[in-house]
Amino acid sequence: MNNVEQLLVSARHAAKAAHCPYSNFHVGAAVLCDDGSMISGCNVENASYGLSICAERVALFSAIAQGKRPLALAVSCADAQTSRERGTKMPCGACRQVMQELLPNNAKIHIDGVGTRTLNQLLPEGFQL
Ligand code: THU
Repeated sequence: MNNVEQLLVSARHAAKAAHCPYSNFHVGAAVLCDDGSMISGCNVENASYGLSICAERVALFSAIAQGKRPLALAVSCADAQTSRERGTKMPCGACRQVMQELLPNNAKIHIDGVGTRTLNQLLPEGFQL
């Protein structure tokens, strides 16, 4: 299994842990770090809906909290490989902005059931201070 496939498998596995009683939309993400490790995350929802957080941000923030530098990311929703429409498989805009902050410019984002995109493709001309 190559690195990309391993990252996708980790993201699919993480989706099983999603806490999503309100949407029932399971999402998993996995980040490849500079030390070769993979850190995963899932979406975690809340009864106060706005407090919910996406899988991609959980994975990226976990990597940062562990002192690691994220290099690439994979994301998968529960049945990403089969029935979902393309748009439901793509990372949301908020996560793209966070990716811009925490991943290298040319980082690869592997989207299960869609393919690989660069961060620049997903968020051209993103906000910067
Ligand atoms: N969600 C993610 O985890 N990542 C995305 O990029 C888009 C949406 C989650 C948030 C919420 O728990 C559920 O999917 C439905 O929006």
